[in-house]
Amino acid sequence: MQEEKLTDTASRLLVINLIFREGMLNRSYMPENEVNFSRGLEGVIASQTKIGYIDGLKGHLVYRGYEINSLVENSTYEETAYLLLYGRLPTRSELDDFTSKLKERSSINKETYDVIRRIAGLSHTMSSLRTAVSYIGTHSKLGDKTDYESQEEMGISIIAKMPTIVAAIKRAVNNEDFIEPDPSLSYTENFLYQSFGERKSKEVTRILDSMLLLHADHGMNASTFASMVVISTLSDMYSAITAGISALKGPLHGGANERALKMIMSIGSPEKVPEAIGRMLESKEKIMGFGHRVYKVYDPRAKIVKTYADQLTKGTPLRKVYETAIKIEDYMIERLGSKGIFPNVDFYSGIAYKAIGFEPELFTPIFAVSRITGWVARDLEYLTNNRIFRPRSEYIGESEIKSYIPIERR
Ligand SMILES: CC(C)(COP(=O)(O)OP(=O)(O)OC[C@H]1O[C@@H](n2cnc3c(N)ncnc32)[C@H](O)[C@@H]1OP(=O)(O)O)[C@@H](O)C(=O)NCCC(=O)NCCS
Repeated sequence: MQEEKLTDTASRLLVINLIFREGMLNRSYMPENEVNFSRGLEGVIASQTKIGYIDGLKGHLVYRGYEINSLVENSTYEETAYLLLYGRLPTRSELDDFTSKLKERSSINKETYDVIRRIAGLSHTMSSLRTAVSYIGTHSKLGDKTDYESQEEMGISIIAKMPTIVAAIKRAVNNEDFIEPDPSLSYTENFLYQSFGERKSKEVTRILDSMLLLHADHGMNASTFASMVVISTLSDMYSAITAGISALKGPLHGGANERALKMIMSIGSPEKVPEAIGRMLESKEKIMGFGHRVYKVYDPRAKIVKTYADQLTKGTPLRKVYETAIKIEDYMIERLGSKGIFPNVDFYSGIAYKAIGFEPELFTPIFAVSRITGWVARDLEYLTNNRIFRPRSEYIGESEIKSYIPIERR
């Protein structure tokens, strides 16, 4: 047939032209099982999962059947990581094996440290993180393997290395020496030790551990989806995680906590809130740390992180920042609560991280130290029943096929 000789693009245009000519391109022509256009895929279900769910109207977040509050009270980051990855809480020996595995894989080599040192300060810390993870993937022996076991091994290795990489980025930005992981310490203890060069108090360690646990998984958010799209092509885990990091960098996703803190600090004090936020709302600016695509009530994670911000800022110079944040929350709920706009997890997390001693440019990389588990868990789960992601665009361009006009005649 003549059409067979046409290029892919040309043949698709031909079909579109035919459809328009036949007057078929309208919604009633769509077969019943077709999904109608949904901007940003909002509401579209593109995969099935047993990992967790969010009830955005009741304000619940559940990992593998466990409410987030009960995990924060009783579990640790490592145990919750096991739960997300393997579907149930581990026995003591399973948890010991899993934490040993993480410790054995937590070091990075000298070349990776050199790369981190070389690129530190050139651009955003998330760009450094993206480059570091991608770089490690270039010398992984498994980088080209696509079987489940290899993908799992790569995933565990990246989870293990994430705190080391992020702490190294922090120290490189500050021109400090790197600190190797200490095998006697837990995931979070090590992250703090490698970041600050000293152990933090039990209270601070526990709070950070809970914050990592709280951010570990959150439905099919943009970074998780980005990572799943890559793994669905049977690319390798390093590439999938690099994609997740790239998506998390954006201010509408992981970058919001850094911007939220900057905004709260720039307002400066509670009495300036109505004027400052009022002005931003008048000019249709989005207030960072508010609103959520899924939660239309108070984000359950934000409720917990707010208590940490309160606890950590008591009697410190950051107290005024916390009080300013409280005022912003009251003002925003009064103005926009009826639209379902409440603080999300990013609103108070920046204050908590800052009170622990992290600078704002580290906030989103810390998010990645946590979310890495959700990315790996969902990528692995998707691989067990893989189908390459391939949505479609609704074509709203020219309907007629045009004759090509040579450049000198345009
Ligand atoms: C997260 C976010 C992208 C969700 O967006 P969404 O579900 O598409 O929400 P919408 O944009 O449809 O918001 C509905 C209404 O609330 C307003 N709104 C939503 N978030 C707002 C915010 N943070 N500040 C001010 N107004 C906001 C919208 O302007 C819109 O108003 P309209 O009805 O007059 O058009 C959005 O709330 C946002 O950009 N928040 C700030 C960034 C942030 O904190 N991100 C972290 C998410 S965990």
